[in-house]
Amino acid sequence: MFADVPATPPDPILGLSAIVKGDERRERIDLTAGVYRDATGSTPPFETVEAATRAVVDDMQDWGYLPIAGHRGYRDRVSRFVLADAYDSVADRSWCVQSPGGTGALAVASAFARRVASGTIWLPAPTWPNHPAIARQGGLDVRTYRYGDETAVWGDAVLEDLAAAGAGDVILVHACCHNPTGNDPDAELWADLAALLRDRGAVVLLDAAYLGLGRGFAADRCAVDVMVAAGVDLLVAVSFSKTMSLYRERVGALVGVAPTAAAAANTLGNVEAVVRPMYSNPPAFGARVAATVLGDPGLRGRWETEVAALQERLAAIRRQVAAGLAARGVDLMPTIEHQAGMFAMTGLDADAVGRLRSQFAIYVLDNGRANLAGLADDAAIDAFCTAVATVTS
Ligand code: LMR
Repeated sequence: MFADVPATPPDPILGLSAIVKGDERRERIDLTAGVYRDATGSTPPFETVEAATRAVVDDMQDWGYLPIAGHRGYRDRVSRFVLADAYDSVADRSWCVQSPGGTGALAVASAFARRVASGTIWLPAPTWPNHPAIARQGGLDVRTYRYGDETAVWGDAVLEDLAAAGAGDVILVHACCHNPTGNDPDAELWADLAALLRDRGAVVLLDAAYLGLGRGFAADRCAVDVMVAAGVDLLVAVSFSKTMSLYRERVGALVGVAPTAAAAANTLGNVEAVVRPMYSNPPAFGARVAATVLGDPGLRGRWETEVAALQERLAAIRRQVAAGLAARGVDLMPTIEHQAGMFAMTGLDADAVGRLRSQFAIYVLDNGRANLAGLADDAAIDAFCTAVATVTS
């Protein structure tokens, strides 16, 4: 049977990243996967996360399984972290399940939706290429709504398309730092969206993998606040890959808010029933590290400062790229300064993307998405702007 198994194309992001690693040109710039890199090209630990890691290593008493829903302290702290000011008003009707990364949270949400909801998920177009694959693997029918282009969110199109959503449909929205465009809804669109989706009886699934990296934690939680206030059935997929540099530890969570405490208990029960046959229970180490950072007031404050520095660096890269392209007379990415997070759509076509790779050893995704966090220093930003000017001239 294996002899007839068809070949599959490489993953558009992680498959390409693996190819990039084989390019031995010294000037290589990797703008593929959404991973932060310093000037040496490596992904360093956050100082606070390193300190928490040492504390956890010194306290490894119990090696038994975690519960199906994960580490109790982690779940509690993540709920409070994600829901923040809204936490007190929904504490008795919210829940949190630890998951293997944000991808794991989305996979659990998909299987849960297949089990209890309508079986349809609406994804923005464009979106992270893994979203449709996760949803389909979870057994969901995928529909799309027009979200926008590389320069702007199309608010009217979003509302028009989602007016066709049915009761129990899941609507996935990027909470902040939209991947791939970097364009997020404004407060007015969030409010309109929340009212529409509540009235449609839809389930809102916020992908919050980049919380804190857009405009700071408070602003990036806008979507969560608005959805909670509107009273929608809410799921939030969380990840500490980018904001704690715990990429390879797979530290994520699915947070839910239901209309009543009884509904929350039943919802959690169904989520656990999905997790048990999927991976039984999550790994402990990274979650304990994250729980230590979130729960220790000293570490927590310093960590927030570290995240703010990363967020400011991304904003600075955007400003520098905008200035660098303008200085070279390139009119691509006109709104890059006003976008948020790691990603931007360069607007480069397939030919230009190919030339960036072959002539300059600069790698963006096939669709032109660039991970700006991969522009490690001034020299890299300069090289990038020069190369873009060359391939578009
Ligand atoms: C990305 O979009 O590059 C990141 O979320 C990494 C991934 O898993 O695709």
